[in-house]
Amino acid sequence: MREHDDTAAELIRNYLEYQVNAGFTQVLIPRRSPVRTGSPRLQAVREELGECTRCPLHRGRTHIVFGEGAPDARVLFIGEGPGADEDREGKPFVGRAGRLLTKMIEAMGCDRSDVYIANVVKCRPPGNRDPEPHEREACVSFLEAQIKAVNPEVIVTLGRIAANVLLNTKEPLGKIRGTFQDWNGIPVMPTYHPSYLLRREPDRRAKREAWTDLKQVMALLGLPVPASGDQS
Ligand code: URA
Repeated sequence: MREHDDTAAELIRNYLEYQVNAGFTQVLIPRRSPVRTGSPRLQAVREELGECTRCPLHRGRTHIVFGEGAPDARVLFIGEGPGADEDREGKPFVGRAGRLLTKMIEAMGCDRSDVYIANVVKCRPPGNRDPEPHEREACVSFLEAQIKAVNPEVIVTLGRIAANVLLNTKEPLGKIRGTFQDWNGIPVMPTYHPSYLLRREPDRRAKREAWTDLKQVMALLGLPVPASGDQS
């Protein structure tokens, strides 16, 4: 028992030292609820959504892209809305941006199937335009219900729209990215959208910043964090 206490104390000390060295001014304590039964609750949310016609986006869709992943995921990623590939397959982040998101998840030491991935809107906005405010409003209660069902320890929002909708703010992404925010007691890390990272490919600064954000999420989850280096 004493040995376990020593090991736990050592782990906690390392974690706190990491936070201090990384310049954190707050100590972030990961939550884990005692009972983690995501699946039936998620199923209930999916059933409530039904063959949704609550906003005009339903007219152009092939599939509703509800979300996918582990129903009891420790980390939940939120994008903006399905693109053409996602609309065709009915799954989130399966196109080019999705392949980069998968790499980002793997760089964190996770498998895509370990996490949960959802979007602000569940139907594809035409021509990949930003979802309109009334379209976001029609969908946001389903996103919130998904979050409550999964009950993750941390949320990562991808891009401006996801951060603004979830956090109910108009702050530019540049102001809030890289610092933990809060959604009903769950820490939220706003970071760049993978599509933005692809657009900025030649300039690696944004990618480095996104990796810094993800490393904070890893530290919060108690995952091993590489001391330095770039994720490529
Ligand atoms: N971009 C998003 O925001 N979501 C997806 O599912 C795919 C691309």
